[in-house]
Amino acid sequence: MQTRCFFLTDLLLCVILLTGCTGTGQEYHIGVSQCGAGRWREKVNSEMLAAQHLYEQHAKVSIACANDNTERQIQQIDSLVNSGIDLLVVAPNESAPIAEAIARVRKKGVPVVYFDRKATNDQYTAFIGGSNVEAGKTVANYVVDLGGRLVMEITGSMSTSPAQERHEGFAKVMAENPHLTYVCREADWSSDKACSIIEEQVKTGSIPDFVFCHNDGMATGVYKAVVELGLEGKVKIIGIDGLPGEGIEYVQFGHQEGSYIYPTHGEKIVKLALDILTGHPYERENVLQGMMVTPDNVNLVDLNSRELMEQNEHMITINNKLEEYFGMYNIQRKLLTGSLVTILLLIVAVVIAWRAYIQMLKNTRQRQSMNEEQTLFYTDPARRKIQQLLDTPEENLPAPRNQDTLFAERLNEAIRKHMSNPNIKMEDLGEEMGLGRVQLYRKVKAITGLTPVELLRKMRLQQAYVLLGNTTKTVAEIAYEVGFNTPGYFSKCFKEQYGKLPMDLRSEE
Ligand code: FRU
Repeated sequence: MQTRCFFLTDLLLCVILLTGCTGTGQEYHIGVSQCGAGRWREKVNSEMLAAQHLYEQHAKVSIACANDNTERQIQQIDSLVNSGIDLLVVAPNESAPIAEAIARVRKKGVPVVYFDRKATNDQYTAFIGGSNVEAGKTVANYVVDLGGRLVMEITGSMSTSPAQERHEGFAKVMAENPHLTYVCREADWSSDKACSIIEEQVKTGSIPDFVFCHNDGMATGVYKAVVELGLEGKVKIIGIDGLPGEGIEYVQFGHQEGSYIYPTHGEKIVKLALDILTGHPYERENVLQGMMVTPDNVNLVDLNSRELMEQNEHMITINNKLEEYFGMYNIQRKLLTGSLVTILLLIVAVVIAWRAYIQMLKNTRQRQSMNEEQTLFYTDPARRKIQQLLDTPEENLPAPRNQDTLFAERLNEAIRKHMSNPNIKMEDLGEEMGLGRVQLYRKVKAITGLTPVELLRKMRLQQAYVLLGNTTKTVAEIAYEVGFNTPGYFSKCFKEQYGKLPMDLRSEE
């Protein structure tokens, strides 16, 4: 019994555990709102996707891209939150216009992590990204070191924090170097705009020695213009992002004098999000380290970067396989839970059926013994008599009889029993009644007014009278049956008693 209980408890525990866990442990849904596309953002995205199962807690990363459209980004933020994400990671196309949408997210209790681009207010949970002031300064110092005269800066959209901060850092160093002529123009992260700006600048007659573009995308636009204007080699171009296959390659090819690696680290973004969601300690401001790629270090940086990218691709493959296994595991877990529940229900059903069967057996046995008792009761004359008495309504019960009546009844019975014996003695009759001969005489005389002998003869004749009327027996047969020694003496006594002969009684019929 105890083993059965343990088995059932174990089974129940298995079902609870199986239904309780998600199969991949706790999984947090992280929504990512990207302001736009491009190689740099693709890299961050792939790093975040590769890190979904990298940490103790699992993450499900869903990414929406607004293609540099602020309105679209606001819609995407709303729908990400409505889809039930646990945390929002956002790189705003423009920080100020999305502030209201972010307030709605926060109102729903969903934490918000800004990455790469900063918020215009304090309404965010954490920030993670490279130091853009630092990037601007590093590039500026590099330019100063190389020496030159006219330096031009082409900025990204000045409504974004990276552009503002890159400019801030760059302008600061320029200010410290008044021997340089410094020109700054805005190109909204657009390669074509950067191209036009350079063309216009060259048309003025003053050709810049250095052009610092806020990203490598705009740097390619500048390079294109420079080539077209026949100024290749004369105008040195520096960009930001430093991606393998893009900025790093341009430095390798000599198209650019340098590129600042603007760090991506998608895995760190996922880690920060999970730390927030799981209540682990985390830093509110998280600065990622960047570095300058120059012709001196470009090959080494290229090697490392490509290796990292390759590893990230392996991680994505592993991640996809993991997802596949989790899917399979979840199906198996559901099947197993279903089977365990079925077994549990079957056991319960068997136990119920078994109990019902045992109860049925008990009932049958009880009914059988009751039937037997009843049969016995009704077939046993003594019991039947009792039952008759029990069944008789009180008013119909026989009136209580006194001693004399009881004696008369017993005497009646005793005489009838011995009546056919012609030699019966009064002593025998007395003995049967538990009385002596004299006592019998007195008692019979007192009750009936007859002596025992007279009573015996009267009862013999009465019985004969009945038999004559109710049977076809002969007079002689009846005479012997009621205890007379001879039919003649019987006829004589009968005539004395009833005034006619037994034969006369027969012929009257
Ligand atoms: C990509 C990008 C990068 C740049 C960053 C600044 O969208 O333009 O090239 O470094 O954004 O936020």
